[in-house]
Amino acid sequence: MKYKVVTTDILIIGNGGAGIRAAIEANEYNVKILLVGTSMPGKAHTVMAEGGINAALGNVHPEDSWEVHFEDTIKEGVYINNQKMVEAFAKDMPERIHDLEEYGAVFDRTPDGKIAQRRFGAQSYWRTCYIGDVTGHEMLMALTEANRKRDIQHMDEVMVTKILTKGNNISGAVGIDLITGEFIVFRAKSIILATGGTGRIYKVTTNPKEACGCGYAMAYEVGAELMDMEMFQFHPTGMVYPESARGILVTEAVRGDGGILLNSKNERFMERYDPERMEVSARDIVARSIYSEIQAGRGFEHGGIHLDIASQKSPEFILDKLPRMVKQFKDFANVDITKEPMEVAPTAHYYMGGIKVRTEDNMSTTVNGLFPCGEAQCGIHGANRLGGNSLAETQVSGQRAGKYAAIFSLKKELEDIDEEEIENEIEKLLEPLNRKDGIKPQEIKKEMQENMWANVGIVRDEDKLRKGLEKIEALERKSEEICVDGGRTYNLEWIDAIEIPYMLFVCKSLVMSALERKESRGAHFRSDYPDRDDENWLVNINVREEDGKMKLYKTPVSITRIDPREAR
Ligand code: FUM
Repeated sequence: MKYKVVTTDILIIGNGGAGIRAAIEANEYNVKILLVGTSMPGKAHTVMAEGGINAALGNVHPEDSWEVHFEDTIKEGVYINNQKMVEAFAKDMPERIHDLEEYGAVFDRTPDGKIAQRRFGAQSYWRTCYIGDVTGHEMLMALTEANRKRDIQHMDEVMVTKILTKGNNISGAVGIDLITGEFIVFRAKSIILATGGTGRIYKVTTNPKEACGCGYAMAYEVGAELMDMEMFQFHPTGMVYPESARGILVTEAVRGDGGILLNSKNERFMERYDPERMEVSARDIVARSIYSEIQAGRGFEHGGIHLDIASQKSPEFILDKLPRMVKQFKDFANVDITKEPMEVAPTAHYYMGGIKVRTEDNMSTTVNGLFPCGEAQCGIHGANRLGGNSLAETQVSGQRAGKYAAIFSLKKELEDIDEEEIENEIEKLLEPLNRKDGIKPQEIKKEMQENMWANVGIVRDEDKLRKGLEKIEALERKSEEICVDGGRTYNLEWIDAIEIPYMLFVCKSLVMSALERKESRGAHFRSDYPDRDDENWLVNINVREEDGKMKLYKTPVSITRIDPREAR
């Protein structure tokens, strides 16, 4: 079987904010780096991040500090975050913002010339640094440019499909050049996994096509442990129409900057759910409130509720702070948000679950040489993530993964790669292309996404979760018959076929973890166990492979500063 071999010290998989930040950091050490991504430079999902990035700079509220950022993050995560990680995160963030400025990101300013900070949900102070509502885009441009200046090697439109190990050590990876269809074997001493999230397992999502959860599945396959897989965040506000725009993010900045939520009876319904914080309550609370209003029949004609900033702020203010929202609603829905309300509903947005890292051991995992970062890793956000903490996490965990992977690689020799393992992987990849008839991957994806939306969504219960699991298992069997038309060059149907096992794996670990957690906490809401239960569930649920089976086990939460049981 023919394939190209590329050798490096560190292979970084994923060219979004976390992967690029990792590359910049690793470049400070004398190591060879290769950054691969499924998209072109500057096109990764980070460009879609809108409202901002959190750091306790205290530019608007001087009382802010890393301690308050820490506390807000833990409270939003409903106390199952890894407190050691959150402390490091909140302390690092101001410096990471200054790095971004150095790379060329031009943040909006306060009248006295400091970096401006806006209000976001569930935060004690205005802490979210921003560039209008295109913060992720500007950040990614600056990071990409910084990478270019450092002449860091990159391969674009390459999909990595499998991680290779020798014993418990990273030895490399297998991938496909999507443009030529050529197989590539990477030999590497370490891998930084910056593969992002998995929103595409749901029918309605803010995430792009490549958010298929491949990083979680590939890491699990080589022995990494996953954690908090039941914790999936639904952003309260996504577009609802036209159908082609359904799920697209409507930034929290609209509410942070003064937008209000109204139902079809013209009630500002957040008064019933969180009268104190109203529209800037925690994301899970706002998402569930909107869901409840819609379920109760108080939605509008396209199935959403109204988000109205036009009645609260001047057109000049809206155009200045939310230019992308203005354009997005004009272009897609022909709505002028400076004059009319937007119709919105919850949309699958972010995975708090992910690959478990050993905080006490330099961001490493149970696999020697594997360093996840960004949305691929877990621990910081617990049961629910603060808006603005995701872009922040890309920078903190990217910087740390880059540093520790470099230190690791400097002391490490390349491992041998196993030819047979590579040939088996290539054969597996070719199977759907060689099958003459069978089931189309799109059909399986559609059924999977509808199943997850209906049975494993914002409100869960035992019956729905069991039904969801049954369907996933049926789809696993069905996926053995996938067939694909065409050849190997940029064949989107083939890419779909390759993504399906990763997605079904994530669905299964999500549902099984959700069945296990018999309480409600943060984004995990079970109508059959509606209360939070700190006596029994102040734990993380972990997932690992044992004897070819998915095994779940609980570990106590890592508490260093705040114990909710003591607060009572
Ligand atoms: O609403 C937003 O702008 C999204 C931010 C986030 O998820 O952090």
